[in-house]
Amino acid sequence: MNLISDQVDKKEIEIIVRELKKVLGNDVIGDVTEFGCYLGTTSVYLAKTLMQTPERSLYVYDSFAGLPEKNSKDISPLGVSFKAGELLASKKQFIKNMHQHGVPVPHITKAWFADIKPDDLPEKVAFAYLDGDYYMSIIDSLRSLNGRLSPGATIVVDDYGNAALPGVARAIDEWLKSHVATLKVEHSLAIIYVKR
Ligand SMILES: C[S@@+](CC[C@H](N)C(=O)[O-])C[C@H]1O[C@@H](n2cnc3c(N)ncnc32)[C@H](O)[C@@H]1O
Repeated sequence: MNLISDQVDKKEIEIIVRELKKVLGNDVIGDVTEFGCYLGTTSVYLAKTLMQTPERSLYVYDSFAGLPEKNSKDISPLGVSFKAGELLASKKQFIKNMHQHGVPVPHITKAWFADIKPDDLPEKVAFAYLDGDYYMSIIDSLRSLNGRLSPGATIVVDDYGNAALPGVARAIDEWLKSHVATLKVEHSLAIIYVKR
């Protein structure tokens, strides 16, 4: 497994693909979304897995301008990791990486998550991967998914167990209070099963 960036490790990719395959095997209705695609490390594996089910599409979202500013919920006693503008990848480089890895180029929306329009999203979402690092990035990703998640959908969130990025767990824990879903944590990923 040759990863494009160090933003995700092999074990995490295995878990993400395993969870996506479960959703596909359970015939959960809908497409697949990734919020925070960066250079496409995870996108390649999502796209590869979806090649087995051509009726499903991958939708990816990124500012392609790097990370936004943190807010107070992102401040960690561990100190400063990441600053605004870091993790900047161009859309052109993302597309090049998809070609180089022999996977179809997904639907790409270049936008801040808060500015994603209803038309940018698939009608129904069976699987969502959230990798926006910060509290508001996760809140805005979840807001985009409002009313789109199918019964039995799965959301996987990177950095839930990462103490250096505490906004992620704060956003997810808040969301879980008002949604019927169960949470499992594995290798710093939150795996959220939406009720069938
Ligand atoms: C950790 S990287 C994603 C890594 C990627 N999933 C991978 O597999 O390599 C985080 C990405 O999220 C994007 N991002 C974070 N917050 C965002 C926001 N609020 N709106 C748009 N993009 C955002 C950044 O531009 C960055 O590319």
